Amino acid sequence: MNGNASPPDVPVIAIDGPSASGKGTVAQGVAAALGFHYLDSGALYRLVALAAGRAGLRLDDEPRLAALAERLPAEFCGSDILLSGEVVTDALRTESCSAGASRVASLAGVRTALLERQRAFRRPPGLVADGRDMGSVVFPDARLKVFLTASAEVRAERRYKQLIDKGIPANISTLLLDLRERDARDASRPVAPLVRSPDARLLDTTGMTIAEAVATVVAWFRETA
Ligand code: C5P
Repeated sequence: MNGNASPPDVPVIAIDGPSASGKGTVAQGVAAALGFHYLDSGALYRLVALAAGRAGLRLDDEPRLAALAERLPAEFCGSDILLSGEVVTDALRTESCSAGASRVASLAGVRTALLERQRAFRRPPGLVADGRDMGSVVFPDARLKVFLTASAEVRAERRYKQLIDKGIPANISTLLLDLRERDARDASRPVAPLVRSPDARLLDTTGMTIAEAVATVVAWFRETA
C-alpha cells in the first residue's frame, strides 16, 4: 500500500510511549546492547518544528509544513543532529521545540512526508525505533513492540533534571502541566494517536533504573528469537 521497501527480515524493536518516559535513553541502551541502529523519530518532528520557526512558517500551515518535512535537510551524525549542516541537538530539546513538535505531529501531511525517511533507518543487523507510532504505523511488523511509560510526576522530574543538567532553566510544575497537555494532544489527535497497541508489551519504568529497563527489553527481544 505504501511501498515499504524496508527488508522485512531486518528485526525492529518498536518502543512507543508518552513524553519524557525515558524511551530515548532505554532505546539507545537496547540498540547499544544488541549492536542495532537507532531511530529517534521524535527528533524528526522537532526538526520540522525548528525549521518551520526559522522559515517563518505557521505551525498549522499543513501544505508548507509537509513540503518542508519532505525535503528536511537533516542529518544524524552519531549523537549529533544537524539541520542544514548546523548542529541543533540542544536546540531541539527546548520546551518551545517540544511544544512545536507536538503541534506539527498532529498534521497528517507531515506524518506521511516523514514515513519513508523513518523506514530507511531499517538496516541490518536491526533497528530500535522510539516514538509514538513506531509499532502501530511505521513498523507494524516489528519483532517486538514495547509501550514504555512512567507516572507523569516521575516523567516531569526526569525532564527537569535533563534540562538543568544542560544548563536550560526549568520549572517543575510548568513542566508537569506541559507534559500533561502534550500527552493529551498526542493521545487525542485523529492521526496516529499515542495508544498502546494490543500487541505491545507494557513496561512501566516508574520505579526502575535505566539498566533494569534496558535489560528487560533485551530479554523480551531474545524471547522472540
Ligand atoms: O519523543 P519526543 O518527545 O522527542 O517527540 C516530540 C513530539 O513529536 C511528541 O510530543 C509527539 O507529538 C511527536 N511524535 C510523534 N510521533 C512520533 C514521535 C514523536 O507524533 N513517532
